[in-house]
Amino acid sequence: MPFTSMRDFRAAPRLLASAEGHYYRDVQGREVYDLFSGLWTSGLGHCHPHIVEAVRRQVGELDYGLGFQMSHPLAFGLAERLAALAPNGFSSVFFTNSGSESVDTALKIALAYHRANGESERFRLIGRARGYHGVNFGGMSVGGIAANRRAFGTLLPNVDHLPHTFDLEHNAFSRGQPRWGAHLADELSNICALHDPRSIAALIIEPVAGATGILPPPLGYLERLREICSTHGILLIFDEVITGFGRVGSAFAAERFGVTPDIITTAKGLTNGVIPMGAVLVKQEIHDALMTGPSEMVELAHGYTYSGHPVAAAAALATLDIYEKESSFEAARKLETQFEEALHSLAGLPNVIDVRNFGLMGAVELAPRPGSPGARALEIHKRCFWDERVVVRSAGETIQFAPFLNSRATELVRAIGSVGRVISATD
Ligand SMILES: Cc1ncc(COP(=O)(O)O)c(C=O)c1O
Repeated sequence: MPFTSMRDFRAAPRLLASAEGHYYRDVQGREVYDLFSGLWTSGLGHCHPHIVEAVRRQVGELDYGLGFQMSHPLAFGLAERLAALAPNGFSSVFFTNSGSESVDTALKIALAYHRANGESERFRLIGRARGYHGVNFGGMSVGGIAANRRAFGTLLPNVDHLPHTFDLEHNAFSRGQPRWGAHLADELSNICALHDPRSIAALIIEPVAGATGILPPPLGYLERLREICSTHGILLIFDEVITGFGRVGSAFAAERFGVTPDIITTAKGLTNGVIPMGAVLVKQEIHDALMTGPSEMVELAHGYTYSGHPVAAAAALATLDIYEKESSFEAARKLETQFEEALHSLAGLPNVIDVRNFGLMGAVELAPRPGSPGARALEIHKRCFWDERVVVRSAGETIQFAPFLNSRATELVRAIGSVGRVISATD
């Protein structure tokens, strides 16, 4: 199983049988409130009838279509819709099947772009400590989680990392963007000085780091990174696999923060988690730079058997319909204050050393149990499921929250209260 302590899981498996709206039903028939929107995936709730119907219809109409040298209208229609949702200047989309594939696709596009522009000396990739960009070799290399890297030997060469922005001394219990830390972006200038900026192809970051425990960018930080990248011709990639599609109250975090990257990676909320699909969005000039050479030549030697899969595309189009029809991103933004209040009410509980939030992303940081890293958070995750019928994620020393975009405020607040009870009852 992915990122699971298997022996611990086998001792008491948590198995889901079905889902509807904001609730799962487990194999024992118990109704369980999902306080994590799937895995950041399902902001509209589970088994949304419009998406289910679109998938049913599509699978009986065009189940698969050869995607190399051929395509189908749904993929092109979806690409247009995505480009229209993105910040100005984004024109083109490359489809993948996951966030990890989106990240590796984005890194390859960045390298290919510079080559096409005659700058093949730009081969370095920069990530950030505590960044998570999936599990493929590119994403793992630019990612900044030691535990995800140490078992796998040599990763990509020519990768460097910015420092993370996690700092309890200055930022503990911040609500939204912390005030302290914009200067940490200047480390990019130091990395440029060290390596020669003309050797750097791209910087990839999550606008709000998700997997490592919700680290909203300090005020002014993203703006500063954008400035340094622009000065040196470095492409800025926002990994919006989590932050895309309403999670931060807008189509993309780029819009919310008013900082426009050159490439955006997505997955998860693209299909509301119903069918695996990812997409990489690029600016017009990146697309155009690749359109060189004889027209019968493949311009980007990259892609997957299932890129732009018709059933996934149908699920994504139906999802975008609902986002629009239900004004989901605005609805998510309206929920933020209640979510923030409820989350920060956990601040005084035993072992809670930080509470952080941005948009509908939240984390409670716990003091580690001496000698047993992650054990306290894992126990809380399990007790929430068994004792309170609530799903939250545990990762490292954090409990993470990702409410539905269309959560009912009373249920949301009640579920956070349930987590609070468990935290209080856990040593
Ligand atoms: C920011 C970010 N990038 C990439 C990924 C990888 O996505 P996937 O698990 O779909 O490969 C994730 C997954 O959580 C993520 O949060």
